[in-house]
Amino acid sequence: MKIFQQKENLIAEIELFRGQAKTIGFVPTMGSLHKGHLSLIKLAGKECDIVICSIFINPTQFNDPKDYKLYPKHEESDTKMLIDANCDVLYLPKVDDIYPNGVEKLVYPLNQLGAVLEGKYRPGHFDGVIEVVKRLFDIVNADRAYFGMKDFQQLAVIRWITEHFKLPVKIIGGPIIRNNNGLALSSRNERLSDSQFKSALKLSKSLFYIRDNFRNSSFQTLYTTALSELEKDSNINIEYFELANAHTLQPVSNFDEAQSVGVFLAAKIGEVRLIDNIILF
Ligand code: PAJ
Repeated sequence: MKIFQQKENLIAEIELFRGQAKTIGFVPTMGSLHKGHLSLIKLAGKECDIVICSIFINPTQFNDPKDYKLYPKHEESDTKMLIDANCDVLYLPKVDDIYPNGVEKLVYPLNQLGAVLEGKYRPGHFDGVIEVVKRLFDIVNADRAYFGMKDFQQLAVIRWITEHFKLPVKIIGGPIIRNNNGLALSSRNERLSDSQFKSALKLSKSLFYIRDNFRNSSFQTLYTTALSELEKDSNINIEYFELANAHTLQPVSNFDEAQSVGVFLAAKIGEVRLIDNIILF
């Protein structure tokens, strides 16, 4: 695996691939890699000739400075995992390689898509994600870019910018990878204490409860039961727990076979903020 820290060198390498008519799959990440990230690397490897992964902890998408400061970093083990997963190129830029004119971000017209769920609780977060992803796309110039459904709204936002700016890249969504107990893998999980980890397991349990019962009950009934279970646990602070249209992410009041819906939640467990979702149909 080749590693680049400077975009000029990476771009020169990509031009070589282009000259050989190779297709390029791109997996942007913030590192502290786990099987969720690696599933995207493997998917890209199946569909493309060359797989490029970036690891960059993007300062503009953190609305909580403490979260940015505490974001885990594991460069060495990440590199090893990428080699084992047959990644071809790792782009590992410093902040000024991505933001040569200083850290800046625009406000993007996400409208209703940016006003709900994460957008409501993390003002400016998606503007930062868009800023970095647009810059990374410009550098990597991939045929396909891979994003996980764990960050379902992020995937919808990336699909939106790709259409809005007519970016020449195909966006592919990969399924959520979970541990044996159902907890969605996340780089932030390692910041949980043992007791917080146990509490975190209840988040996906509540989603599975709704998935397993939605054909026989209203959302309101299932939601009330699930929420009261979560609220019994003093480690858990729910930010949102909502049924929403899986395309627009706008709230929906009940299951309705006419539209694809999912349940989306965000919770703070101590200082660690986790998100999860399940698409019902
Ligand atoms: P990061 O949180 O590192 O995630 C990188 C990619 O891995 C995202 O597309 C995310 O959805 C996916 N991912 C994370 N956990 C997953 C899981 N358990 N199962 C499947 N996929 C999972 O998301 C970001 O970084 C950043 O916002 C980024 C897009 C890199 C822009 O800075």
